[in-house]
Amino acid sequence: MRIILLGPPGAGKGTQARILTEEYGIVHIAAGDLFRENIKNKTALGQQVEAILKAGTLVPDEITIKMIAARLDQPDCKNGFILDGFPRTVAQAEALEEMLKNKGIALDAAVQMAVDDEALVERVSGRFTCAVCGEGYHDTFKKPHAPDTCDKCGAQGKFTRRADDNAETVRTRLETYHSQTKPILPFYEERGLLKTVDGMAPMKDVTAAILALFGAKKASSQGVQAKKNG
Ligand code: AP5
Repeated sequence: MRIILLGPPGAGKGTQARILTEEYGIVHIAAGDLFRENIKNKTALGQQVEAILKAGTLVPDEITIKMIAARLDQPDCKNGFILDGFPRTVAQAEALEEMLKNKGIALDAAVQMAVDDEALVERVSGRFTCAVCGEGYHDTFKKPHAPDTCDKCGAQGKFTRRADDNAETVRTRLETYHSQTKPILPFYEERGLLKTVDGMAPMKDVTAAILALFGAKKASSQGVQAKKNG
């Protein structure tokens, strides 16, 4: 199974990708996580992109495409993948199409998570993550069962918040989404790959809606009979 999750910051791409990864046994490739890992490790790429992420604008296509192409070449992608945060421009969508064509594989679907901009600032500014296992939480929508303790791995006092999760940067990220990323929706619609789910629904309902598109657990990578959206 090969899926793209599309949506603005806070739409729930990362939340759903982590669930789908376990459900289908495929890898989760998050462009933002790869950049943040490079920043944390102070690599040349990390130094190149740090200020861009802080500002909430997009890393140049050339850099992003090269990074994702290298990730897709890894053997763990052979059984399938969920792309979260890539592509984000028409040029990236075209580059991905070419990359997959060269590998002789095709996407199953591009799933758009439809959300209201108004709700996103609250979602993103309330978000925090376990630095040990990556489990995501929220001050209102998903609190850990025991204070300051990760439900998943039990780590204590290891929660972190992203540097770009403040109201001002979120607004820039939203503007960037509308001006540069939304134009890729017609790209996938024209190819019969675009599916839309209601990203404003409770998390478990969003998961159910996505699973309903693809069927049973550990689905094969042969593709789904995706009906053209709309
Ligand atoms: P990236 O890391 O991809 O950030 P983003 O797209 O802004 O997405 P987020 O991670 O903020 O949101 P999400 O949709 O994953 O939401 P989440 O599930 O966490 O990119 C960061 C930066 O990297 C970019 O600004 C850019 O600079 C650069 N970059 C990345 N990719 C690039 C590319 N391709 N090209 C160029 N530059 C690139 O959910 C948010 C919160 O809401 C959580 O707390 C969650 O618990 C809660 N929540 C989730 N679902 C629900 C629900 N249904 N109901 C209630 N709460 C919910």
